[in-house]
Amino acid sequence: MNRFEDKIAIVTGAASGIGRATADRLRSEGGTVVGIDRDPVDDVDMAIQLDLLDLGAIAPTVAQIVDAYGRIDVLCNVAGIGHFARDEDETPEAWNRVIGVNLTGTYFMSQACLPHLLESQGNIVNTASTAGTNAQAWSSAYSASKGGVIALTQTMAITNGRSGIRVNCIAPGGVETPIGEQFTPPEDVDLTLMAGMLPYHRPAQPPELASAFAFLASDDASYCNGIVLRVDGGTMA
Ligand SMILES: NC(=O)c1ccc[n+]([C@@H]2O[C@H](COP(=O)([O-])OP(=O)(O)OC[C@H]3O[C@@H](n4cnc5c(N)ncnc54)[C@H](O)[C@@H]3O)[C@@H](O)[C@H]2O)c1
Repeated sequence: MNRFEDKIAIVTGAASGIGRATADRLRSEGGTVVGIDRDPVDDVDMAIQLDLLDLGAIAPTVAQIVDAYGRIDVLCNVAGIGHFARDEDETPEAWNRVIGVNLTGTYFMSQACLPHLLESQGNIVNTASTAGTNAQAWSSAYSASKGGVIALTQTMAITNGRSGIRVNCIAPGGVETPIGEQFTPPEDVDLTLMAGMLPYHRPAQPPELASAFAFLASDDASYCNGIVLRVDGGTMA
């Protein structure tokens, strides 16, 4: 398949896990990929180190990409951080960091790319989570950020859909990536509350998510707009 030939795709979170695999997949299908991450990104056509909490740097970064390539066809917002806390112990700093990367970063990357996507009739694929569609204990900030990603996906899809662009999101279940280390349960909690979060069968490997990103980002998904594609191996079925 060469679904991304002549397409310029931005993938955030491209240094690791699902973003890394998505960048690989889009490139393997002929795409030119710009990988953005706070960590160095390898094996992309253009690598940009950017902390998405630095909101003022987002628009200049997107301008730099348009200067280099002249267009943007696909934005995959994959960067994210995990976080568990007892509600009694949550801090404003941690709350703002999780919402800042997962939700605010996703929104302002989308805003900066929007005029270019309107021009190319391109699309956005965001990263939610089953934590945004179903309950996940000890993760008020993370779940709120992912529920917010679903709401902004649907809102931007409807606001901009008649102008010819699509905005969708993927809700992964458990995927074997380094983010798992950021989901250590707090001490002395009722571990039976974990039951609903455990993968039904097995955790996914990142390429099993990358194929879903590639589908939604491609013309194969031309009639998908505003959808939440749950890719969780049946966990929430
Ligand atoms: N792995 C899972 O089980 C799972 C489940 C549901 C949703 N997700 C979501 O999938 C996405 C990718 O996660 P992953 O599992 O590949 O984890 P990961 O930790 O392997 O990758 C996340 C990437 O985001 C980058 N990142 C974090 N904060 C950043 C910032 N401030 N600025 C720029 N880049 C930043 C990291 O450096 C890293 O490269 C996240 O949005 C995550 O919430 C993951």
